[in-house]
Amino acid sequence: MRARISSIAGYVPPRVLTNADLEKMVDTSDEWIMQRVGIRERHVVDAGVATSDLAKEASLSAIQKAGLTPADIDFILVATTTPDMLFPSTACVLQAKIGATRAWGYDLVAACSGFTYALTTASQIVSAGGSRHALVVGADVMSSITDYTDRTTCVLFGDGAGAVVVEPSDDDLIGILDFENYMDGRGGPALCMPAGGSRRPATHETVERGLHYVKQEGQAVFKFAVRNMEEVCRRILERNRLTAEQVDLFVPHQASSRIILAAAEKLGLPRKKVIINIDRFGNTTAGTIPLALNEAVEEGRLTRGNLVLLASVGAGFTVGGVLLRWA
Ligand code: ACO
Repeated sequence: MRARISSIAGYVPPRVLTNADLEKMVDTSDEWIMQRVGIRERHVVDAGVATSDLAKEASLSAIQKAGLTPADIDFILVATTTPDMLFPSTACVLQAKIGATRAWGYDLVAACSGFTYALTTASQIVSAGGSRHALVVGADVMSSITDYTDRTTCVLFGDGAGAVVVEPSDDDLIGILDFENYMDGRGGPALCMPAGGSRRPATHETVERGLHYVKQEGQAVFKFAVRNMEEVCRRILERNRLTAEQVDLFVPHQASSRIILAAAEKLGLPRKKVIINIDRFGNTTAGTIPLALNEAVEEGRLTRGNLVLLASVGAGFTVGGVLLRWA
């Protein structure tokens, strides 16, 4: 049995942080940020707002669009790197918030590949008959782990969430066709939050040294991302005997417009088939792909049967690709 995405929704918090705002906080410029990553503004939460709050808004909207109620959801998978707390899982928090009383579920950590990994996992469970109405969420409050005195990282991230309902497909040609996921764990130190886990629990020293913030070797991440965004797409297209021309829409993880355009160019995908909305949202980690896909749907850029390619590269390093025919 094939699984399909039956509805999609996105949510970002109302507060906007522009490049002009960041110019007042660190030594940066709108020109530098636009040239390097293509971000004009990003949305950030107010104090006290957590990942489950953003996930709730996106989830309720996706459930309603699918013609369901929260009680119909039987499985919840939340991809996030910024859970409300270490435990219980954000999936548990979300289940209670939306009243999905019949659902079991858990969180999945794959950083920027969170949504592609979660969609892959949920589609396998639905295909195997283990769920009829799965809720898959990609949500992050990156502002909670961003050091707003570090210009090399604070310009990159934003907060946001996207949610999809995954159900069995009534047509074997429609739905999630294939996926390609892989990792290279040797890349871990290039992008991480060093403290706050079991190796370095929170102490005054870890807080003073800013070890609860995102740390990144930008160039190492950039090189890996460009190479592997292309590689994962090539692998999945080749295995399915498809060419880039046959792809109707490419929805990549939004980390940098340079990374996206470099990968698209190498694949031979024309700009008009590539969804880029990083200019308005920044890198929302697990939120970017469902937010971008949702915008494409709202803009009427997808019709039933369209071939869609999702691709992500993230901390880990994690790499993910999903090929689907839009339902
Ligand atoms: N404003 C102004 N100058 C800056 C800023 C800033 N915000 N940040 C860094 N600089 C300076 C540096 O200090 C450096 O100055 P120096 O030459 O005087 O030392 C100069 O700009 C160049 O720094 P680099 O780090 O070499 O800049 P680079 O061209 O590599 O761009 C960037 C940095 C944008 C982070 C790039 O490496 C990148 O896009 N990396 C991928 C990062 C990414 O997307 N991570 C997100 C998560 S992972 C993922 O989703 C794939």
